[in-house]
Amino acid sequence: MRPYVILNSAMTLDGKIATATGSSNISGKKDLERVHQIRKECDAIMVGIGTVIADDPRLTVHKIDADPEDNPVRVVVDSRCRTPVDARITNNDAKTIIAGANEYKEDFMATDTYETLKERGVKFFFSGDKRVDLKALMNYLHEEGIEKLMLEGGATLNFSMIKAGLIDEISICIAPMIVGGANAKTFFDGEGFDTMDEAVRLELTDSYTLDKDLILTYKVLND
Ligand SMILES: NC(=O)c1ccc[n+]([C@@H]2O[C@H](COP(=O)([O-])OP(=O)(O)OC[C@H]3O[C@@H](n4cnc5c(N)ncnc54)[C@H](OP(=O)(O)O)[C@@H]3O)[C@@H](O)[C@H]2O)c1
Repeated sequence: MRPYVILNSAMTLDGKIATATGSSNISGKKDLERVHQIRKECDAIMVGIGTVIADDPRLTVHKIDADPEDNPVRVVVDSRCRTPVDARITNNDAKTIIAGANEYKEDFMATDTYETLKERGVKFFFSGDKRVDLKALMNYLHEEGIEKLMLEGGATLNFSMIKAGLIDEISICIAPMIVGGANAKTFFDGEGFDTMDEAVRLELTDSYTLDKDLILTYKVLND
């Protein structure tokens, strides 16, 4: 069993979710409110360590009316447990789970960072050898009571999650901007598929504009 997973992201018309230098303010005000409404409706929100290091996100519900208990559990996919001790995701606004990989568990548990984060109430889950086993993580989160999870990137984690068949729904905000840059992160990076036959198929379920942005929602046609 695993949670129902909604991937949400904002990209420029040329498919970039950040510039090559890491700037990622893409959504308009109304889209941010839409995103925070989805956060409010989810039990957990998950990002990769690349996003934590690049953006230091709070991952709370703060752009719409909400109570502290509306904040979803925050999950960081972080094989080597590199989450900085002062990352905002580890503050006490909401519960936090750091998902690491087994190879790094012992060394990490001997560090002061581990002790500090543990004292702050951060929980840890280890799976996989050198990289987090995403299926095992989803199974664990479901056992922890997470029924609906919002995935908020970034590019590398998005690809691993879709390749593993772990995403049910996608909502994307397309901003009328072009930034270019061969090294700028796209909606899905990772190793990619070799052929179109392997492409994950989607079904468009909704499309509308929010101010200048275009919102598209898709159902993922997992086999
Ligand atoms: N526009 C938007 O909506 C939006 C949203 C989110 C992020 N972003 C942007 O995306 C960029 C970050 O993306 P990113 O691709 O660098 O990083 P990411 O996807 O956030 O994190 C990737 C990291 O997760 C870890 N990981 C552990 N297990 C994994 C697994 N099984 N599969 C994949 N990753 C795994 C890996 O690091 P370890 O091996 O160290 O664990 C990997 O390098 C930032 O520039 C951010 O601004 C944009």
